[in-house]
Amino acid sequence: MSEPKPRKSSEPKAPRSFGWMAEFSDEHALLDAAKKVRDSGYTRTDAFTPFPVHGIDEALGIKPTILPFIVLCAGLTGLCTALLMQWWMNGVDYPYLISGKPLGISPAAIPVSFELTILFSAFTSVFGMIFLNGLPRFSNPVFTNPKFDRATNDKFFLYVDARDRYYNRESVRELLGATHPESLDEVIEDSTPASIPKPILLGALLLVLAGLIPAMIVLNMRAGFSDLPRWHVWFDMDFQPKKKPQQTTTVFADGRTMRPQVTGTVARGQYTEQDPFYLGWDPSKLSAMEGSNPILVSYQDGAPQSSPTQSSTPMADGGSAPAPKLPFITQLPIEADEEHMKLGKAKYEIYCSACHGYSGFGDGLVATRAQALQQDTWTAPTSLHAGRVQIQPVGQIFHTITNGQGKMAPYATALTPKERWAVVLYVKALQRSRNASIEDVPVEERTKLTPAP
Ligand code: HEC
Repeated sequence: MSEPKPRKSSEPKAPRSFGWMAEFSDEHALLDAAKKVRDSGYTRTDAFTPFPVHGIDEALGIKPTILPFIVLCAGLTGLCTALLMQWWMNGVDYPYLISGKPLGISPAAIPVSFELTILFSAFTSVFGMIFLNGLPRFSNPVFTNPKFDRATNDKFFLYVDARDRYYNRESVRELLGATHPESLDEVIEDSTPASIPKPILLGALLLVLAGLIPAMIVLNMRAGFSDLPRWHVWFDMDFQPKKKPQQTTTVFADGRTMRPQVTGTVARGQYTEQDPFYLGWDPSKLSAMEGSNPILVSYQDGAPQSSPTQSSTPMADGGSAPAPKLPFITQLPIEADEEHMKLGKAKYEIYCSACHGYSGFGDGLVATRAQALQQDTWTAPTSLHAGRVQIQPVGQIFHTITNGQGKMAPYATALTPKERWAVVLYVKALQRSRNASIEDVPVEERTKLTPAP
């Protein structure tokens, strides 16, 4: 059986000495004593006074702090960091032109450089001061002497630390005794237990646990399901006085939240030449067309909205809306090559096939489903093989895609002009595939064809 280990607290220990502390009743006595101690070569000394005493640093031989120099270095570091950061971010890594300012370092870099200089210096001042002073220090052996309480009231104390290079218990006592202090005491170790009292520890633990509760609630809500309406913790964030697209507003007379382009203006980056490539028709030939002129007045985004040049009689072949009469171009402005054909096929199948069907007969999934539902608001998509569409010039089909036609919506925002022309090319190919003659098949391929029964 081994003997139980003796507890630490039951071991009586000789209290450790930390040095000597002399008490004075005025600052002059303190200053005189400090000078004597300094002249004897002691440097690990300190003075405690109820108010700042001028000349005490000098009397104790305390050297000026190097903190200002450190702060200067930190400030310069901040300045360089800011300049380097802005030069790299805006000049090299992500050149982004803002209001025509030069890239990299410009006068616009001054505020950030100033702020970082201040930030670095301020943090260095505070934390450097704390570090150089050996803080945080929660207890000091001088506190063990009840007399020391008056250091914040009306007494002045001079302290010589036992860790001083020249420290000798007896000679320090003699030296301090010769300065005629009111009292002279040895500073001994604090005997109060160093561990945190249990109730405080328990309280801290409870606080930490309580701090976890909101996080647990959030986690639980994220993982679980509920039939109840959600909590709105920040009500004004969830319900902001703002307007979303497609909502109405009372701010504008027409009630529309989404504002149409201001008449007579062109948004930046949206300007396109009055060119057949963007229109599908040739503006220079417009005047040659009979009865036309108000078209350009009501012209917006390439589309004549309503003009006398449009015929008012509904068209045959399923088309319900009158087609515009414009000098449409008949020649594709892009090459009829494989690349464009592939592009056109891809875009057609994404944007058009849902209604017009993969082969263009107007039997797309959406159309078929809508017809099955028999909703009377539904207009059947035109068959692209209808004779009327067959004879349409390429420019007109481009115009239909760009501006919509009757019940069909425009696709100008979904497809670039080039993509639209590629779709036109593909539509033309679809049409041709349904009206081909034997002459369209290359001679060497013709033998592979079997005649219809
Ligand atoms: C949401 C269904 C829908 C989609 C998608 C659609 N269309 Fe249409 N399209 C229609 C309807 C409906 C009509 C008949 C419009 C009318 O006359 O009111 C039509 C008519 C047409 C016409 C005939 C216009 C005329 O002169 O009468 C062409 C050509 C055409 N579409 C091409 C296309 C192309 C190319 C695409 C793909 C970019 C496309 N459509 C996408 C529904 C659609």
